[in-house]
Amino acid sequence: MNSRRKLVAANWKMNGSVAANTAWLDAFRAGLGEPVCDIVVCAPYPYLLQVAAGLGSRGAESGAQDLSAHKDGAYTGEVAGEMLVDVGARWVIVGHSERRAMHGEGNELVADKVARALEAGLRPIVCVGETLAEREAGRTVEVVGAQLAEVLKRVGAAGLAVGVVAYEPVWAIGTGRTASPDQAQEVHAQLRAQVSEADANTAAELRILYGGSVKSGNAAELFAQPDIDGGLIGGASLVAGDFLSICAAARN
Ligand code: PGA
Repeated sequence: MNSRRKLVAANWKMNGSVAANTAWLDAFRAGLGEPVCDIVVCAPYPYLLQVAAGLGSRGAESGAQDLSAHKDGAYTGEVAGEMLVDVGARWVIVGHSERRAMHGEGNELVADKVARALEAGLRPIVCVGETLAEREAGRTVEVVGAQLAEVLKRVGAAGLAVGVVAYEPVWAIGTGRTASPDQAQEVHAQLRAQVSEADANTAAELRILYGGSVKSGNAAELFAQPDIDGGLIGGASLVAGDFLSICAAARN
């Protein structure tokens, strides 16, 4: 048993409304009890203030889903890390596969954003993951290794460990197809070993989350793996009760 406290993060993606979020937050506060893990809720930008204010007093924290690689200035439509902190965010997802695939974010930009998040005082949730084609070509280790290496090169193991890493195989996101606990554990152990080459102590403390079709029915088995320290939850986080059962499955 290691000393890493599990973390479960919701990624609402582009879902929600003021009214729907109010109902979610009411149900979340009512159902939370004494949390058995760290909890983060990553909402769309316009709702960050609402979520930060509505999570309640039991330590759950607000996060954003992206940030600008720039600090301030003429970047129409971009949102700076400092602004996220200003509206109560403590965490930010960086390098989600949907941003890598649909918004052309490569490993260097992701590393820039992680560095920016740290400068702004945010804790990054650094996402890595291979596509189905890459997995089938036997390139999983190479692909996720390169994604992590760029971030490690930029911020070091210590910077990385301010936040967490999230392993999210692209083929498991939103597809209902989850990596088996063994498949996920294998990659998590690999990622930890890679960080260990830079700094063994930090690697032992680093939390590595699994994401991709985690549900209340499969969470406990995934979270029981030695190198899986929680989850990044998309679809199943949209109903407060479902999200809370996933959080409950993170009991060490
Ligand atoms: P999912 O998404 O749980 O809906 O598969 C996870 C994610 O993309 O973070």
